[in-house]
Amino acid sequence: MIWLAIAIELILLVPAVLICIVMFKLLLVKGYRDYPPFVPSFGQTKKMEYQRLFEVLQQSTSKLKVLDPGCGTADLIIRLAKQFPQHQFVGIEWNKGLYKIAKLKSNRIDNVEILCQDMFDYSFADTDIIVCFLMEPLMEKLGRKIKSEGKSGLVVYSNTFKIPNLELKEKILTRKFLLFGNLYIYKL
Ligand SMILES: C[S@@+](CC[C@H](N)C(=O)[O-])C[C@H]1O[C@@H](n2cnc3c(N)ncnc32)[C@H](O)[C@@H]1O
Repeated sequence: MIWLAIAIELILLVPAVLICIVMFKLLLVKGYRDYPPFVPSFGQTKKMEYQRLFEVLQQSTSKLKVLDPGCGTADLIIRLAKQFPQHQFVGIEWNKGLYKIAKLKSNRIDNVEILCQDMFDYSFADTDIIVCFLMEPLMEKLGRKIKSEGKSGLVVYSNTFKIPNLELKEKILTRKFLLFGNLYIYKL
């Protein structure tokens, strides 16, 4: 019984310690703040994001291109790509390790493309939907790129972080405590 209790405590402790390390690095190291690290999205906001995208993709009669800049392990787009083979999904991740994981997971799915590069070197011009979970220092630069390259009708779903230079269309409140939460939706 005692071993079970120790095992459960360890299982809870390890993610808590990892989250604390990321938080401290974000507070203390500027370089880390400038380039969002890998923090996987989770919880109510991700669920809401998924539901919204599911509805839009299900209702669309034309083929849509969904882009996830900074996709990490690309969970969200891979899940949607399996459900919607008629739509196209692109994930961009510059961290080689995460890219390889995403690539491996999407190996047999024809409508997913994972690219290992800087998202700012990729054109957003033919994208219909952007879904992102990035961080504060990038949001203004991202907004400028979306404004200059995005086509009319482009919809952007941003988990937790506002895009300050785009006009907000809708805000879905999911934040209950801590730093993460809320879904911000923009439309060009
Ligand atoms: C907060 S994580 C989010 C991961 C994933 N989208 C999710 O929701 O779980 C942000 C990711 O963006 C990647 N990233 C940051 N800046 C990038 C850039 N300029 N080009 C490509 N990827 C970038 C990081 O490596 C990290 O994996």
